[in-house]
Amino acid sequence: MTKINAVITGVQGYVPEYILTNDELANMMDTSDEWIMSRIGIKTRHLLKGEGLGTSDMAVEAVKGLLKKTNTSVDEIDVLICGTVTPDMPFPATANIISDKLGIKNAFSFDINAACSGFLYSLETASKFIESGKYKKIIVVGADKMSSIIDYSERNVAPIFGDGAGAVMLEATTEDIGIVDTMMHTDGVGRQYLHQKAGGSVKPASHETVDAKEHFVYQDGQHVFKWAVSKMADVSVEMMERHNITPKDLAWLVPHQANMRIIDATAKRMGLEREQVMINIEKYGNTTSGTLPLCLWDYEKQLKKGDKLILSAFGGGFTWGAIYLKWGYNTK
Ligand code: UT7
Repeated sequence: MTKINAVITGVQGYVPEYILTNDELANMMDTSDEWIMSRIGIKTRHLLKGEGLGTSDMAVEAVKGLLKKTNTSVDEIDVLICGTVTPDMPFPATANIISDKLGIKNAFSFDINAACSGFLYSLETASKFIESGKYKKIIVVGADKMSSIIDYSERNVAPIFGDGAGAVMLEATTEDIGIVDTMMHTDGVGRQYLHQKAGGSVKPASHETVDAKEHFVYQDGQHVFKWAVSKMADVSVEMMERHNITPKDLAWLVPHQANMRIIDATAKRMGLEREQVMINIEKYGNTTSGTLPLCLWDYEKQLKKGDKLILSAFGGGFTWGAIYLKWGYNTK
């Protein structure tokens, strides 16, 4: 029997208009452009402003563009998966809301919560649905409105994050392209270093939790940094070794955009040059589930059919992993 592969056939991103600069952050807290650029590598981040707007609104823009670009009608979509940690509401799933807003009626849809690895986990899940032969077209979204859970008086968290969304179309093919291999990991011990304390079933929202600012991201930056550097590099190098990929063979590393120093350390361990690494952290910051599809979107025109890519991420949970794929198309 011919093997069915899952291949990305289109990508589209969306970032909101409003841009928060380092100088503006320096007016809000004790920080500077120099510190943020040298320790994190972020110049600007886009924030979604406006009453009643949430993660689904950014995702809808990305998916709308994706459908148009790939000439796909809403009726053709079998599944829509959304990686996010900032759903529009605790339930129902943001994926359901995206589908409803776009008139996607034939698909079943659900969210995946894997923090910064949300897109990677969603793509892994979607690829297995495609490979099963049952589903033909799946939209995989990574979207987060991080500004909804950031305390803008906290200097060790606020500069890092931004809002944004990206979406890819995943389809079935029998060609030797698409997702080749995946390596996914979780270690729940990491939850103590990166989490949101209240608003879940253990600590539902109350006046006290709001007063104590427990609905914002809590991060022990140094611990997360150490884990991220070693795990993202380990899994990416392991993927290269498993498939005998030399640094020269690899067209692109598509790394999660959390800190320029984490990206550099990963690329160095893999033996790559800067030119082989997709980087847009300077413009968007860490958009959590949005980083990988936003990278693919920004670099789409430079990608050629058959290019070998490794997507790699690390995030809250802890969650991490790598996906090795062969790019599916040339952009006209
Ligand atoms: O996507 C996955 C989730 N997140 C991550 O991957 C983030 C991982 N962690 C990091 O990227 C880094 O740990 C941070 C960017 C969060 C912090 O950078 P760092 O180099 O680890 O700084 P640090 O926490 O060791 O702090 C060094 C100093 C401290 O001052 P003292 O105690 O030495 O006087 C901090 O208070 O830098 C200070 N500091 C700042 N100074 C100016 C912390 N944040 C800032 C700031 N501006 N924004």
